[in-house]
Amino acid sequence: MTWRKATEADCPLLGALNHQLIADENHRSTMGIPALVERMRGFLSATYKAILFEEEDQVVAYALYHPFEKSDLYLRQFFVVRGQRRQGHGRKAVRLLFDEVFSPDSRLVVTALSHNKRALTFWSEVGFDEYCVSFERLPRKG
Ligand SMILES: CC(C)(COP(=O)(O)OP(=O)(O)OC[C@H]1O[C@@H](n2cnc3c(N)ncnc32)[C@H](O)[C@@H]1OP(=O)(O)O)[C@@H](O)C(=O)NCCC(=O)NCCS
Repeated sequence: MTWRKATEADCPLLGALNHQLIADENHRSTMGIPALVERMRGFLSATYKAILFEEEDQVVAYALYHPFEKSDLYLRQFFVVRGQRRQGHGRKAVRLLFDEVFSPDSRLVVTALSHNKRALTFWSEVGFDEYCVSFERLPRKG
């Protein structure tokens, strides 16, 4: 597996993959691909960075992250392409982030939706510890 930093030219691909990520994690966002592409452009022109992971020149995964507070990094999006899962790509990509992309001094934070059991298992399998549970109360309708 190889990795490279995404550029503005990758935003259409990243926006489309972000759309699949939203569907696959059953997120309540209703953003469509054009809006996600624009949002991605905004992210990358601000403080975010995206990494594309490739096998034989094919993108198999991406990660989007940004720095916050001191040396902390927030891994906002992480996605392995459909049809490429359960082959260890996610585990390899996280290993590359740890070893080659992120500073070893950084504290890494990732959040997963409570119903996304696959992600909860994945993050604990690849070296993260659960440290916080957030609660919400939705606005009342009417
Ligand atoms: C979660 C995700 C990143 C895992 O990627 P992956 O390449 O399939 O993961 P790997 O093959 O490297 O699996 C590593 C370990 O994670 C766990 N795991 C991964 N997928 C799992 C699943 N469907 N069910 C249970 N455990 C799973 C297993 O422990 C696995 O090790 P094993 O295969 O030796 O049992 C991928 O399913 C994905 O992109 N899902 C949709 C987007 C998403 O939910 N992203 C996370 C947002 S927080």
